[in-house]
Amino acid sequence: SDEGYEAWLRFDPLAKSELEVYTDWCSEIILSEQSVILQAARAELIRGIASMLGRKPMVKAKPSKPRYLFVGTLDCAELEGLIDKKTRESLQEEGYLIKTVENPEGSCIVLTGQTDKGVLYAAFHFLRLLQTGQSLNGLSIKETPRNRLRMINQWDNMDGSIERGYAGKSIFYKNNKIVTNVKRIQDYARMMASVGLNAIAINNVNVHDVETKLITSELLPYVARVADIFRAYGITLYLSINFASPIQIGGLQTADPLDPLVKQWWADKASEVYRHIPDFGGFLVKADSEYRPGPFTYGRDHADGANMLADALEAFGGLVIWRCFVYNCQQDWRDRSTDRARAAYDHFCPLDGRFCDNVILQIKNGPMDFQVREPVSPLFGGLRHTNQLLELQITQEYTGQQRHLCYLVPQWKEIIGFDTHASGEDSTVARIVEGSIHGRPYGGFAAVSNIGDDTNWTGHLLAQANFYGYGRLAWNPELSSEQITEDWVRLTFGNDKTVMETISRMLLDSRTIYENYTSPLGIGWMVNPGHHYGPNVDGYEYSKWGTYHFADLLGIGVDRTESTGTGYTGQYHDIPSARYESLHTCPDELLLFFHHVPYTHKLHSGKTVIQHIYDSHFEGVEQAGELMQSWASLKGKVDDTRFTHVLSRLEEQVRHAKEWRDMINTYFYRKSGIPDERNRTIY
Ligand code: GCU
Repeated sequence: SDEGYEAWLRFDPLAKSELEVYTDWCSEIILSEQSVILQAARAELIRGIASMLGRKPMVKAKPSKPRYLFVGTLDCAELEGLIDKKTRESLQEEGYLIKTVENPEGSCIVLTGQTDKGVLYAAFHFLRLLQTGQSLNGLSIKETPRNRLRMINQWDNMDGSIERGYAGKSIFYKNNKIVTNVKRIQDYARMMASVGLNAIAINNVNVHDVETKLITSELLPYVARVADIFRAYGITLYLSINFASPIQIGGLQTADPLDPLVKQWWADKASEVYRHIPDFGGFLVKADSEYRPGPFTYGRDHADGANMLADALEAFGGLVIWRCFVYNCQQDWRDRSTDRARAAYDHFCPLDGRFCDNVILQIKNGPMDFQVREPVSPLFGGLRHTNQLLELQITQEYTGQQRHLCYLVPQWKEIIGFDTHASGEDSTVARIVEGSIHGRPYGGFAAVSNIGDDTNWTGHLLAQANFYGYGRLAWNPELSSEQITEDWVRLTFGNDKTVMETISRMLLDSRTIYENYTSPLGIGWMVNPGHHYGPNVDGYEYSKWGTYHFADLLGIGVDRTESTGTGYTGQYHDIPSARYESLHTCPDELLLFFHHVPYTHKLHSGKTVIQHIYDSHFEGVEQAGELMQSWASLKGKVDDTRFTHVLSRLEEQVRHAKEWRDMINTYFYRKSGIPDERNRTIY
C-alpha cells in the first residue's frame, strides 16, 4: 500500500534492467535445515524476491539450475569445503556471510552464518542488495555486529496508551490485555530483524499496577505468545519490572533487596518466568527515579538492588538492565547547589565494580533528557568495571514529536563518536559500550521506540528513518549518516536519483534546522510542561525538575564549571573537561549548557549570543520552509498518498516553527532590550 505500512520492506517491483540477472540467481533457493528462524528467513526471501522480481522462487533440497541461492548455517554439509576455515572462524555468533561461489557444476550465492540468526540477517541484507539495485557479481560480504545487545524499549502501557508515543496506540496491548491479533507484532519483528535488532522490552519502564502483573502466572502465558513471535526473528523478549513487586503482588511487607524473603521471592519469580519463556532475556528496571520505588527506600544502594535481581536471574542466563536516570525530581528552583546534570555520575560512579556480571547499566546519551543538543553523559567515561548500554530516544519527545521532521542519526553519530578519553585517545562511546575498551562481557545500544498503531507506524512517515537508522547504527556504529540515509531512502522511495538526493538532504539537514528555531546553544527545554510540545521559554523555570536556563536582563546559561559553577565539568576526563571548562574552547553549540554569559558575549562564530539567537531563529524558519519546498518539488515522483501526507506535516512544521521563532526572539528581546541588528520583526 502507499500508506507506508510496509516501511522499508516494500520490495517494490524492480526496473527491467535488473530483472534478468537477478532472476537468474534467484529463481531457486536451496535450503534444507529446519528451525523457526530459518523458516522466517525462507519466508522473507520468498516474499521479497517474489515481490521485486514478479516470480516466486522455488525452495528445494538440491539445485536443478546452473545458478541458485544457497541458504543455511555454516554447519550444514553442503558448505563443507566451500567456505574456508579462516572465514568460518572469523564469523561470530550473529555474524553472516554473503558470498558468490563459482563451481563448474553450478554457481551459487551463499547466505550463511554461524547460527540461524546470522542466516536471517544475511537474507535481509541480500534483499537490500536487490532493492537498492546492487550488482551480484563476485559478492563477498562479511558482517559481524559490533554490539551484543541491540535493543528496543517500548514505553507501552496495558491500557493501550504509550508514554511519549506520537503514532497512535500500542500494537501490544488494548483494554489492559495483550492483543490477540498479533499480525502487527509480527510485522514489527520483521522490521526489527531486518535492521539487526535482537532484543525488546515490551512494557513501559514506568510499571503501573496492571503491568506489574505481567510476571504472574495469570499473564505469563500471553507474554509467552509474544515471545514466540519475536523468537522467530531472533529477538529476545524482556520485561520492565516494578521494584516493589514483592509487596504489590507477592504479599510481602517489604521489597528490601537484602531481605532473605525478598531474595527468595525474586528467585521463585525468575524460575516461574523461565518456565513460561525458556529464553527470556531479563528485567529492565527504572528504580528510585521519578517516584518509582527502589532500594533507597530501605537505605540500600543501586548495586544492592540490581545484584539481588541479577542473582535471581543468573541461573537462567538472564540479564538485569538497570537504568541510570536517577535524579532529584523534587528540587526547589531556588536551590542553586543542586545540578541535575551531575546526578547519574554522582549516583553510579561510586558503585563501579560492585555490579554482577549479568547487570548492565543503561545510560541516557546525555546528562539531562534527550534534548536536541546536550553534551554526552560523563558516566560513559567514568565507569570502568561495569557493563554499559547507551540509551537513545527514537521517539521524538523533545524533537518535534513526529510532527516536525527531525532525523536523529547525525545526532547519534556525534554521541557515539564522542571521545571520553577514559583510556587515552579514541575511547569513544561506541567502543566503551561495545565492551572492547574495558573488556566487558555485555553491552550495546537501547532505544525508546517511536512506533504505534498508526498505519505508517511512526506518525510522520519520514520518522521511519529514525527507527531504521537506529538499528543500522546499533549493528555498526561506524556506518556514516549518509550511507544509512541513502539506503533508507532507496528502500522506501526507490532508486530515482533526484528523489534519493532530495530526501537524503532533507533528512540530513533536519536536526540542525530544528535546533535553529528551538532552544539555543545547548540550553535545552523551553517547552510546555507535561506534554513537552511547543515553545514555552519559562515553562520549567520555576519548577521542581531541575531544568533551568537562568535568563535575566543581562545574560543566560548554567555555570557548570569547576571554578565558579556546579563542578559538572569535573566529571569528564582531562581533555573534554578542560575543553568545556574554558570559555575559549567550549564549543558554541554547548555554550549555555556549561556557562552563564552576557547576551553580548561573542561566540567563536563572531556573533554575540543575542544576535545568534535572533539569526538562528529567523534562519530556522526559512530552512523549514525550504524543507517544505524540497518535498513539494517531488510531486509526481512520490505516490500521491505518501506525498500528501508528508507535505501536510511539513506545512504544520513551518507554521509551528514560526511560533517557536517569535516566542523565543520576543522573550529575549524583552529580557535584554537589545534590538536585532537587522531590524526584523520581533514582537
Ligand atoms: C523522561 C520522560 C518520561 C520518562 C522518563 C524516563 O523524563 O518525559 O516520560 O518516563 O524520561 O526515561 O524514565
